[in-house]
Amino acid sequence: MTAYYDSIAEQYKKSKQLPFRLHIEAYTYFNLLGNLLEKSLLDLACGEGFYTRQFKLQGAAKVIGVEISEKMIELARQEEVREAQNIEYILGDVLELGKIGSFDLVVASYLLNYAQTREQLLKMCQNIFINLKPGGRFVTMNNNASQPPTSYLATEKYGFIKSIDSLLQEGTPIKYTISANEQKFSFNNYYLSTETYEWAFRSVGFKEIRWQKPIVSPEGVEEFGEQFWQDFIDCMPIIGIECLK
Ligand SMILES: C[S@@+](CC[C@H](N)C(=O)[O-])C[C@H]1O[C@@H](n2cnc3c(N)ncnc32)[C@H](O)[C@@H]1O
Repeated sequence: MTAYYDSIAEQYKKSKQLPFRLHIEAYTYFNLLGNLLEKSLLDLACGEGFYTRQFKLQGAAKVIGVEISEKMIELARQEEVREAQNIEYILGDVLELGKIGSFDLVVASYLLNYAQTREQLLKMCQNIFINLKPGGRFVTMNNNASQPPTSYLATEKYGFIKSIDSLLQEGTPIKYTISANEQKFSFNNYYLSTETYEWAFRSVGFKEIRWQKPIVSPEGVEEFGEQFWQDFIDCMPIIGIECLK
């Protein structure tokens, strides 16, 4: 199993401290998630457990994290040793996951944008769907496929930009370059159109699909001012998605 995140795990972990992560990414994500008390959660592409730990802190009864990168899982398990939260971390590929349980919520921040083809996206969605209880929800933060490339540089002041080497079409790599703690690192996502996402969600059986624009926390407005966040809100580099089984 090869995983690119093995080489950037530490840098990625540090990038979680950028203000947009807290004031937009996490705020929008937790808004969609709602009350987690006593809920069972499966966190796919859990990385080093940044959100996985927060789900448990917010009262979730059972939390399992799945991640393809050994290094990411190692960092997550280190935190679990440092402060046990009874989170189970599984090293595995979501494309080959199958059914491992029946959860109230399946969550995944930045998983689907690693699908390189519509077939891979469909497979991920199938593995999400089969792990949900009837009435359960899939909630995710993802690259916003509908952001026009003309605004890719407008997010530089938030600590990241996107770039592409060719025209946007199904499967085109989108390179994210993140600047955090005076260090730069890059990784690729893959473009699949918003229509392809809708098709994959519907095909596996999701009843309702809701797209959530990024929202800024009141603390973020207070600390940086409304104007600072305007470019983010205008170009929407990321998007929240909620699907109901
Ligand atoms: C941008 S990181 C997000 C990590 C975490 N969800 C967060 O928000 O902090 C994306 C993660 O997805 C993982 N990943 C990519 N493809 C995967 C797959 N097929 N199965 C499991 N994990 C995958 C990567 O290894 C990486 O850790």
